[in-house]
Amino acid sequence: MSAQKSIKLSDYTEYPYLIPSIYLDFDIGDEYVVVQSSMIIKPKQKVSSKLILQGNQIKLLSISINGKELKLEEYSISDESLIIDTPPVSEFQLKIRSQIDPFSNTSLEGLYLSSGMLTTQCEAEGFRSICYHPDRPDILSRYTVRIEADRELYPVLLSNGNEKNSGNLKNNHRRHEIIWEDPFPKPCYLFALVAGKLNSVSDIYFTNTGRSIDIKIYVEPGDEKYTKHAVISLKKAMKWDEDNYGLEYDLDEYKIVAVRHFNMGAMENKGLNIFNSKLVLADSKTATDDELERIESVIAHEYFHNWTGNRITCRDWFQLSLKEGLTVFRDQSFTSDLHSAGLKRIEDVSFLRNFQFAEDKSPTSHAVKPKEYIDIDNFYTTTIYEKGAELIRMLELLLGKEKFFKGINLYIKTFDGSAATTEDFINSLIKGAYLEEINCPFDLTKFLNWYYKAGTPKVYISQSWDSKNSILNVSFEQKIDCDTTNKNIEMVIPILYSCYSRKKGSIPIAEDNLFVLDKNKMNLQIKTPPGEKEAPVLSLFRGFSSPVLWESDLSIDDYLYLFLNDNDYFSRWDSGQYLMREIIRTRLFNKANQLLEDRFISAIKQSINSLEINDPFFLATLLTIPGFAELESLLNKVDPINIYRESLKFQILIGNEILQQLRILAKNLFVKVGHEWPMGKGERKLLGIVWSYLTLAGDKNVQKTCVESISHYSMTISRTALSALKPLDNVNTEKASNLFYNLWKDNPVVLDSWFAYEASRPNKQGIDGIEKLLSHSKFDWKAPNSIRAVLGGFSKNIELFHSLDGEGYLFMAEKLIEVDKINPITASRMVKIFSKWKTYVEKNKEGMYKSILKLNQANISSNTREVVELILK
Ligand code: BES
Ligand code: ZN
Repeated sequence: MSAQKSIKLSDYTEYPYLIPSIYLDFDIGDEYVVVQSSMIIKPKQKVSSKLILQGNQIKLLSISINGKELKLEEYSISDESLIIDTPPVSEFQLKIRSQIDPFSNTSLEGLYLSSGMLTTQCEAEGFRSICYHPDRPDILSRYTVRIEADRELYPVLLSNGNEKNSGNLKNNHRRHEIIWEDPFPKPCYLFALVAGKLNSVSDIYFTNTGRSIDIKIYVEPGDEKYTKHAVISLKKAMKWDEDNYGLEYDLDEYKIVAVRHFNMGAMENKGLNIFNSKLVLADSKTATDDELERIESVIAHEYFHNWTGNRITCRDWFQLSLKEGLTVFRDQSFTSDLHSAGLKRIEDVSFLRNFQFAEDKSPTSHAVKPKEYIDIDNFYTTTIYEKGAELIRMLELLLGKEKFFKGINLYIKTFDGSAATTEDFINSLIKGAYLEEINCPFDLTKFLNWYYKAGTPKVYISQSWDSKNSILNVSFEQKIDCDTTNKNIEMVIPILYSCYSRKKGSIPIAEDNLFVLDKNKMNLQIKTPPGEKEAPVLSLFRGFSSPVLWESDLSIDDYLYLFLNDNDYFSRWDSGQYLMREIIRTRLFNKANQLLEDRFISAIKQSINSLEINDPFFLATLLTIPGFAELESLLNKVDPINIYRESLKFQILIGNEILQQLRILAKNLFVKVGHEWPMGKGERKLLGIVWSYLTLAGDKNVQKTCVESISHYSMTISRTALSALKPLDNVNTEKASNLFYNLWKDNPVVLDSWFAYEASRPNKQGIDGIEKLLSHSKFDWKAPNSIRAVLGGFSKNIELFHSLDGEGYLFMAEKLIEVDKINPITASRMVKIFSKWKTYVEKNKEGMYKSILKLNQANISSNTREVVELILK
């Protein structure tokens, strides 16, 4: 069906050459950049094999081996490669002069222009747009980089490593040059270069061993005042990695550059991280609590890559989760240690369920370690990242923390300075954990299925109570539903459990225990203290001990009990989520379960009384209804508009039922929210939820307070007020939105949140309103942040995007075709908005299908085509 070529894991072969060192020279001109590379190339064997270099949109100027210019017949060149058929059989120097045009590069890959500065993005395969090179992560080289440019236009010239020399050119005083040297061999995807008018903010970090590291954050002039949070976050991350993993930073300088035009969040280039400016520039006036916490974790994530990713890199891109899954696991642990582990777990699980589980049910479902791909850019997914992190987390649980760290240490010691595979990681983890005793407590082969199989396993649980012996018998059965060929696959599923006596409140009868389900069917006997007459309440998958779905015979009584009493944050929250999902599900079939709703509401009232003061953040979490994607996954035939309306109605119901309590809460909380993050974040979060319920319940005073709070000095409060007004679509919504716009129209990072708000709120202007946003004078087509704000926001504008005439879908398809022309990476990510089409009710399904066809018939990039074809299959 497809003419596209796929890359297969099974085809991996070693590159026949080593490239121990590379010298790169960048001569930055007004219209193009001349790049000269000089590589030392060592054949691995004494027989000559073809030297294949990748290249994309590069103009070759000259090529020589050991100083001798090559003749035309000695190499061949195509759109994507340069091949030398018979290179020397012993070490030689290959020099290539070429020319690239970063000024008209809109893809934000390779070398490109962002707000007047030149910057790079090489992961995954952008280095081939800079110079001819094998461009694969298993080639590690030492880099020396010389940059020459106009001093006025590009006063700051940066690359990886340490500065060697700098100064004005002798023969041309308008130009200057600098030489950077990176002592650590690295794959080319970690190469970075930045040139432009930038100001820097400096700080110093002292390591535990007493070394001092210079920290420098580079920003556009004027943004210096927004860098404090990033610096503090970085220092926390450095300290945490030393204290917890014994890993210290290895260069003397750590640089971060903030860039407005960036496809991703941030990039871990060795010693020179490049960040999307929205993930650097922030304080509590311009960013919400959630955003500040996100920034802290992304800064940490990129920093942690210095060991898990940079010092030890991936053999090939099939091993992507080796660095990303592990580093997400590390950044999640960092955030749990710094803030609340229980709350962080709930956030991570909620994200996983709404995005990774959804991906696993969709046509783009794939394994953590896929076997083939067409375009690697399409595999930076929640499966590789978040499911990958869950697998490491299960290993930590199965091995125990102490053994886990022994394993990690051995992995790092063994593979430092090299390119590894996920199997290398798992094997040295187990070897390090158990050293000479080789009895791994679980079946490793079965555990590896987690890496190789796509789909979310499902566990079925049923109980029987033996009152005579006070024993609870629990039977488990595991299945992978998603893929018919996986029917009899057995996974290793760690299940943390505990149980409660119905009379004893929140103190479990037994300590947390670990049960490892590693066969299709298994039984567990739980002995309860003698004299227990009634069956205890079983609390399963505590802390979400494995990334699975489950179905059990727990009763509504059991869930209500756990919702009020479970001492595990996740399990308590999850019981509430289960009940809410049940309520909304029955409502979706037009048959509200009155009794269940009444009992749930009264449980909510009880929770408010017990948690209000001590734990406002957790209370807010308990009061948050399940995410849209989770609700969609409850149904075989999804009617998105119906889900949207029913979940609003359910919130209105809750709001009305607990109106008095909410009003008191709103009053008490409002006076407590004026602190700087993280202080007061629980109060702010709860106030946000309370406002949302109250505005939905029709409270006019709160609407007024919300409008007045747009200019609050805390961005969290301001944005919370906007959200609370969003579904109303009335004069107050309009007023609040205008106020917000006028306050922030000159701050592009903050303004993106306004674009997203405008695009996602119900609005009488319909699609015209979206079109207006796209042609707004402050909208920047070249900034993925803006595109994601408007088009991503629009996809969450449920009644508009999913309108039954299919106009919303068509509009989206047309716009994505336009985006694809300038930025295929951003377009191919966004096209996944259409991936659930088959699960929708007929009208929506038909409309979405037409739009996907439209994309398929258009002249789209190979990135986007891969996703479109998968979705259509
Ligand atoms: N290495 C990635 C960034 C990347 C991914 C660049 C794909 C090019 C292509 C980086 O470490 C990363 O994972 N960034 C995330 C944020 C992180 C906290 C999960 C991102 O950019 O979204
Ligand atoms: Zn990463």
